[in-house]
Amino acid sequence: MEASPRIYVAGHRGMVGSAIVRLLQRRGHSGILTRTRSELDLTDQAAVRAFFRAEKPDQVYVAAAKVGGIHANNTYPAEFIHQNLMIEANLIHEAWRAGVQKLLFLGSSCIYPKLAPQPMGEEALLTGTLEPTNEPYAIAKIAGIKLCESYNRQYGSSHGIDYRSVMPTNLYGPGDNYHPENSHVIPALLRRFHEAKVSGAQDVVIWGSGSPRREFLHVDDLAEACLHIMSLDKATYDASTEPMQSHLNVGTGEDITIRELAELIRQITGFAGGIRFDATRPDGTPRKLLNVERLAACGWRARIPLREGLEQTYKAFLAESVGA
Ligand SMILES: NC(=O)c1ccc[n+]([C@@H]2O[C@H](COP(=O)([O-])OP(=O)(O)OC[C@H]3O[C@@H](n4cnc5c(N)ncnc54)[C@H](OP(=O)(O)O)[C@@H]3O)[C@@H](O)[C@H]2O)c1
Repeated sequence: MEASPRIYVAGHRGMVGSAIVRLLQRRGHSGILTRTRSELDLTDQAAVRAFFRAEKPDQVYVAAAKVGGIHANNTYPAEFIHQNLMIEANLIHEAWRAGVQKLLFLGSSCIYPKLAPQPMGEEALLTGTLEPTNEPYAIAKIAGIKLCESYNRQYGSSHGIDYRSVMPTNLYGPGDNYHPENSHVIPALLRRFHEAKVSGAQDVVIWGSGSPRREFLHVDDLAEACLHIMSLDKATYDASTEPMQSHLNVGTGEDITIRELAELIRQITGFAGGIRFDATRPDGTPRKLLNVERLAACGWRARIPLREGLEQTYKAFLAESVGA
């Protein structure tokens, strides 16, 4: 019997890393390697080198990153660019030194220009100015893609290096952050509608007009996509990416308005009051949707419908709040 590959998931306690570990375990992988931040600080090059030398993984998933919302990105831009550059440069370079041939780097849809045509295709990368608030983070993520591409170009044929990158859309699901001021739209709305129901509030006020359109992917679907992309043979993967590029978008290909999302969450939480939109507050970009045609062409589509994913997520939120 062939031994299970030794798969290192960097950032396994995070939302994405934990979903990848859950899926690998469900699929019966026994050789999953993990390290907490206190066991291995990924910004420490010597420590990362020693880890790779000792453990010699066969595959790596780079799901570790310093992530945060607009406020955190605006307040700590130096930490965002520095830590993300260090984490990905250390992981990708030391993986290469240790002879790892297969690696998947997790980026984000914020790598695309602020005014990219919608839906945003992979070819939009580096065609325009980025959103200024998270530019340092986006630049670090673009550097991660370019690291993968450069190692493929220089060491692809000589060392069999095959490093791939995925750019997920907005995620939701288990392991999300429900911080009152610093969470993404779905956990923020789940929490606010839940609290409004518990306190018997008359309505929930939402910033903006409710008309911006956004795309949401369940993190378990992302984990499926990551494993699918890693399983593709090189010719299929290379044929699905842009010439000289190595990243693929991962999304549902569908978006909904914030108004529709809020109504769905109102129903799921069972809040009986109303929803008011404060149109004096800024709306942000009118639409952010990924083009997922390339991913579909390599045989993968999202499976979890938004309503079902939100229902599961609300149940998990309730279980966590009761357990807290
Ligand atoms: N969540 C989304 O909506 C979303 C959307 C698109 C793309 N992504 C991408 O997916 C990736 C993972 O995001 P996520 O949402 O899973 O983030 P997350 O929940 O914050 O997880 C990040 C993980 O990285 C670890 N980490 C950070 N710095 C480290 C260091 N110096 N040494 C060791 N470990 C370190 C964290 O460890 P601790 O647990 O110790 O903090 C955490 O476990 C990111 O690249 C992000 O851009 C996320």
